[in-house]
Amino acid sequence: MPVRIITGKDVESLLTMKDTIGAVEEAFRQKALGKVEMPPKVYVFIKEHAGDYRVMPAYMPSIDAAGVKVVNVHVKNRERGLPTVMATILLLKPETGEPIAVIDGTLITSMRTGAAGALAVREMARKGSGVVAFVGAGVQARFQLLGIKEVLGTFRARAYDVSSASSKSFAEFALKNGIKADIAQSVKECVSGADVIVTTTPATGPVVMREWVSDGAHINAIGADAPGKEELDPKILLDARVIVDDMEQATHSGEVNVPISKGIYKPSMISGELGDVLIGKVKGRGSEKEITVFDSTGLAIQDIATASAVLRRAEEKGVGILVDMVSR
Ligand SMILES: NC(=O)c1ccc[n+]([C@@H]2O[C@H](COP(=O)([O-])OP(=O)(O)OC[C@H]3O[C@@H](n4cnc5c(N)ncnc54)[C@H](O)[C@@H]3O)[C@@H](O)[C@H]2O)c1
Repeated sequence: MPVRIITGKDVESLLTMKDTIGAVEEAFRQKALGKVEMPPKVYVFIKEHAGDYRVMPAYMPSIDAAGVKVVNVHVKNRERGLPTVMATILLLKPETGEPIAVIDGTLITSMRTGAAGALAVREMARKGSGVVAFVGAGVQARFQLLGIKEVLGTFRARAYDVSSASSKSFAEFALKNGIKADIAQSVKECVSGADVIVTTTPATGPVVMREWVSDGAHINAIGADAPGKEELDPKILLDARVIVDDMEQATHSGEVNVPISKGIYKPSMISGELGDVLIGKVKGRGSEKEITVFDSTGLAIQDIATASAVLRRAEEKGVGILVDMVSR
């Protein structure tokens, strides 16, 4: 069987946020039902080049999809004119183990992260949430905006970034997608009174403080996805209902990882996983006044489910290049 090579441009033409949310919801539901195979992601550090890459395997029987994503984070890449994060996904045929597709996973990574954020907002934010604050206005912020738009319909956005150029281009992007965004001059101004707060910075210390967060707010904590990364004042976690994407991964590398390592927060304080909320096992929100936090680290099942949806579309539309890879 030939391998289908699907480029980033192909993915762009094949994948919608609506389809991604559907694929990612199925992935989280199957996880909650104990029906996925997903060993922990493996980090390989390349210290001399200020980079790392992560190897993320998963198998989802419900959609007959298996594969692995390899994704890097090289913080000096922007200076080199390259993206910081690039990903490649290899899909295998579960029945035989044959490689069936090599897909650019860069856009898929952003789309599936936006989709998880959207599901968390749908399940955890107060009904009628109308103001969404974005702290960090880079790539992930844009995909969070697109995902949240699918579940909230319209809303007013606010953005703060340490780079005013990033805030400005985020506001332009939002407007192109039908969302008006105001640029804030500080994190406090950005998040005060917001119904939903989205953090997508690479910070390694608290950026959003407890006293700035209103009762009833929901927070998508997206940026912390490796040991040592942290965006929220730990007091927020102590006052909130915290839902993670994966217990194991979040306690080691999610928003909760630093407070846990300092003994300020305990894994037993986490209310559950997003999949538990989606299958109705755990509540996403207990009251109108409660602060809720979704701690996202990014799971291989999100990538494999989304990549498999891309492959199905590519097969239907005859997109991609077929290569005979395996010699027999
Ligand atoms: N949870 C997940 O599944 C997931 C997926 C992808 C990326 N990430 C993480 O999300 C983070 C953002 O990724 P990205 O691709 O958007 O990067 P990016 O470089 O495109 O954007 C990050 C933005 O944050 C801004 N920033 C940095 N420090 C800030 C601060 N203290 N306050 C406000 N803004 C600040 C930067 O100026 C930049 O515009 C990274 O830490 C990445 O590892 C998480």
